[in-house]
Amino acid sequence: MCSIIGYKGNEHASSILIEGLKKMEYRGYDSVGIATIKSGKLLTRKGVGKVAEVNKSLGLDELPGNLGIGHTRWATHGGIVDSNAHPHLACDSTIAVVHNGIVENYDELKDELTRSGHVFKSETDSEVIAHLLEEYFEITQDIRLSMIFTCKRLTGSFAFVAIFNSSTMCGARYDEPLIVGVGNDDYFLSSDILGFLNYTDRAIFLDNRDIVIIDDSDISFFDFNGDRISRRITQVAWELGDADKGKYAHHTLKEIHEQQNTIVKSMKQNKKTLERFCDIMTRAKNIYITGSGTSYHSALLAKQIFSKSKIHVETIMSSEFQYSSDLLDENSILLAISQSGETADVIQSVKSAKAMGAKILSIVNIPTSSLARLSDSYLEVNCGPEIGVAATKSFTSQLALLYYVTDIIGRKSNGISTSKDMLVRAISEVLELDSKIERIANQIKGSRDVYILGRSLHFPVCLEGALKIKELSYIHAEGMAAGELKHGPLALIDNGSIVIVIHPNDSTYVDTLSNIHTIKSRGAKIVGISNKKNSIYDYQITIPTISEFLYPLIEIIPLQLLAYYLAIGNNANPDYPRNLAKSVTVK
Ligand code: AGP
Ligand code: GLU
Repeated sequence: MCSIIGYKGNEHASSILIEGLKKMEYRGYDSVGIATIKSGKLLTRKGVGKVAEVNKSLGLDELPGNLGIGHTRWATHGGIVDSNAHPHLACDSTIAVVHNGIVENYDELKDELTRSGHVFKSETDSEVIAHLLEEYFEITQDIRLSMIFTCKRLTGSFAFVAIFNSSTMCGARYDEPLIVGVGNDDYFLSSDILGFLNYTDRAIFLDNRDIVIIDDSDISFFDFNGDRISRRITQVAWELGDADKGKYAHHTLKEIHEQQNTIVKSMKQNKKTLERFCDIMTRAKNIYITGSGTSYHSALLAKQIFSKSKIHVETIMSSEFQYSSDLLDENSILLAISQSGETADVIQSVKSAKAMGAKILSIVNIPTSSLARLSDSYLEVNCGPEIGVAATKSFTSQLALLYYVTDIIGRKSNGISTSKDMLVRAISEVLELDSKIERIANQIKGSRDVYILGRSLHFPVCLEGALKIKELSYIHAEGMAAGELKHGPLALIDNGSIVIVIHPNDSTYVDTLSNIHTIKSRGAKIVGISNKKNSIYDYQITIPTISEFLYPLIEIIPLQLLAYYLAIGNNANPDYPRNLAKSVTVK
């Protein structure tokens, strides 16, 4: 979701800000803007579009000064127009603000500020922050107090950074991420470490209700009551910045192809950390698993993987958690799955579960994320930066790790620990189908709807495959349990329908085959993902034979590739699907 970057130091701020915003583009946005301060004067340029385009037309990186803020906006309040892009300025242009999140009480604050003479130039909720700071600064003539009073007035979620023409940069956070980068002679404030990792690997992760103030002499931290607090520096891994496309046309394609390595990496865990994680899990009376989107599909699969090892778990979609979590108590654990570790719905679920006394375990890709820091114990999936908005390698890494954990704590082994080499070979065989899948995509790219069917463990993979097709190619896709077709959706099937069936030769084969006959007799075209040749398919994607239980790890890959090539065929950018953000930090 939107990105914030701030810089104060001795270098040309605007070029550093543009570079930082480009590194964070994967988070998703619609507009971009920069403000700098030069000789006490605030300068700003902003507009709708991609960072490179707006920079080319407006010359954002030409703004002079060694202090500045930048922002990519993902609109929540107010249309996608230049005037709503951030930064927003106070009336007398001495303060500029960039904000991530939603100010829920902005209407009431805007009324109050308008009555006291403030003039608003945008429709955003964010602009109230600039005017509140101005209002309190006029009264107190003190930046620290203005920040404290302003933060206390805001409800909702926010990370914001403000620059004052007196050459001070401040930031505050509540339920949105904000990280300080500590350079040799300079400071950064950013939503993501990728925003400053080219310059420094020393970071301070702000907590909720933290305020940071950086002036010419000092950096200081306060809570919303104005009490001074201290925050420690963490060394972050440089490799996190390794976000190159390499030989691939898109990050998404590169990330799909990385899976033969990432799956194995996710099972390389520190022994002690793994023991502690598994120990907490074994002791729990009730286990709940939560996540959003793809990570929720991992949770659905986890439920089946655990149950095959005789461990009962319940899954709760994070966005539904607040309505269905009544059974959690101090004997429960909530296992939260999240690539980013910053998804607002997931964080909210974890906080509610904690308040109910439950222990929190998590599976994350970003160890410095809010989720990891909220957890009693967490495991990293170790798949490296995932830049494509669509989750691909993080999904299979989450699954492999869940299989691995189940293998340790379950009563019955699922065989993952002894199957690593076989899996690597199987995945590389599936990846070799790349151009065949591209051809199939070209045949079906004009379809209006795609249905994906499978039973048992394959069903959550159908949901995930459909999500990939929807978000990447904008074709309507629906994942279904194959047996449910006759209970309603069959009415939709006709000779224009494309039905993809996950159909390995396992215990689901015969029943799913009957469903295929039913569909075929209504004229639909069938794409079969199977290890067994069958002339009933109009197109066959042949996957290798592996142990029945582990098929989800390989059968999702053809669907990821299909979604990617459908996107290309339909002229959509697979890395940055419209309207979506990588890190969904609003509810
Ligand atoms: C997946 O392709 C999506 N872009 C999205 O559903 C994502 O999985 C979801 O927003 C959860 O993200 P997280 O794993 O970072 O929490
Ligand atoms: N709510 C603000 C807006 O719509 C900020 C959105 C964001 O996080 O980018 O401008």
